[in-house]
Amino acid sequence: MKTAGQPLSVKRGHGSFLELDDGRQIIDCISSWWVTIHGHGNERIADAIHKQALELEQVIFAGFTHAPAQDLTALLLKQLPDHFNRIFFSDNGSTAVEVALKMSFQYWRNLGKPQRKRFIGFAGGYHGDTLGAMSAGGSSGFWDSFRPLMFEIDTIPFPATYDGDAVREQKEAESLTAVASLLSANPDMYAAAIIEPLVQGAAGMKMCSEEYLRKLETLLRASGTLVIFDEVMTGFGRTGEWFACRKAGTRPDIICLSKGITGGFLPLAVTICSEAIYQAFYSDDLEKALFHSHSYTGNPIACAAAVASMNLLSETEDRFLSMESVHRQLAKQYLFDIPGAGCFRHCGTIFAFDVTVEGKPGYFNKNVPELRRKFLDAGLLIRPLGSTVYLMPPYCTDADTMELVYSKVRKVLTQDGQSTN
Ligand SMILES: Cc1ncc(COP(=O)(O)O)c(C=O)c1O
Repeated sequence: MKTAGQPLSVKRGHGSFLELDDGRQIIDCISSWWVTIHGHGNERIADAIHKQALELEQVIFAGFTHAPAQDLTALLLKQLPDHFNRIFFSDNGSTAVEVALKMSFQYWRNLGKPQRKRFIGFAGGYHGDTLGAMSAGGSSGFWDSFRPLMFEIDTIPFPATYDGDAVREQKEAESLTAVASLLSANPDMYAAAIIEPLVQGAAGMKMCSEEYLRKLETLLRASGTLVIFDEVMTGFGRTGEWFACRKAGTRPDIICLSKGITGGFLPLAVTICSEAIYQAFYSDDLEKALFHSHSYTGNPIACAAAVASMNLLSETEDRFLSMESVHRQLAKQYLFDIPGAGCFRHCGTIFAFDVTVEGKPGYFNKNVPELRRKFLDAGLLIRPLGSTVYLMPPYCTDADTMELVYSKVRKVLTQDGQSTN
């Protein structure tokens, strides 16, 4: 709080814009931390929430169910690879990951293989702020103070790549070799591997190829290790497809979703698995049940918002399918020639690049808040991740607004020497 400065008070949001109490308009270039996929104040979702609140606002989700949860289940399963058919509801991304970790751990115990209890993660991976999720993303460097509370995992290099990367294949081969050697040294030790597929978010919008994901999945599957895709950020159109697993043609065993699920209106999350995993828990023996619940599990209002969001997403698919080409054209027009800017990368609605920021690299660089402030002064909500600047706007952002964003980014980065080598 001492270094954060005063928070800005926001009066209303509409589409890609936020209006502050003092009347200033700010373009939300990061979908309010990756959740607001249709833009702010979407009336269809707001109406669905209103109607549902009058009908049934909440009910215990043990021994009861309701239409919004059932409708959402059907809509989600329709868009996911067809082996997924069981959904576990919760209320935030970290918990969706926590559930996936517990589910894969207990899966092996229920099958009589308790030795499979260790996890594989990826360098820089971020999976949330609860203890299990922190452990899975232990290499991200955010939680050194909590290290004694976290469990150990094995960490593999993430083969981050960008446009024109000459050594992509080499990095991928090294990463796959590292996975293979872990698996061959201890063939019966791993419960699961967890990865943010195609894009590592908090690590700095680091992107890997679809081909790499497919090879990784094949390798893990051959050893029996479960594959968990943390699609908390990449889900719901972000990567230019409904889900990253679909884009890459992969079939993970477990997938975690949250963030964009309600279009950014309410907290909700799901952990989805295959029938094979579900069957390992389906038993007369209560000890085999997955013990995990939260008071707001499957909240009907959140589910109704998610149903409205899914329907909207189907009707406006074109927006997330076509945003990458808009990013590519504008990046070329406005940013490619900026001195010090490089490692340009795209994945669907996400565009990222690195700039030179003086000082220590990474998240804790003291000059990064200054860059954030400059963007804000220019009317842009952009939060660089270390020296990575990224744009991840709501899908409703129109062509003129996109162009305005890129021209302003250029202006900020070419002002008073920022970003020059
Ligand atoms: C990939 C990924 N997993 C999990 C989380 C945690 O989600 P939440 O903030 O809803 O707990 C995040 C949040 O940024 C994320 O990006």
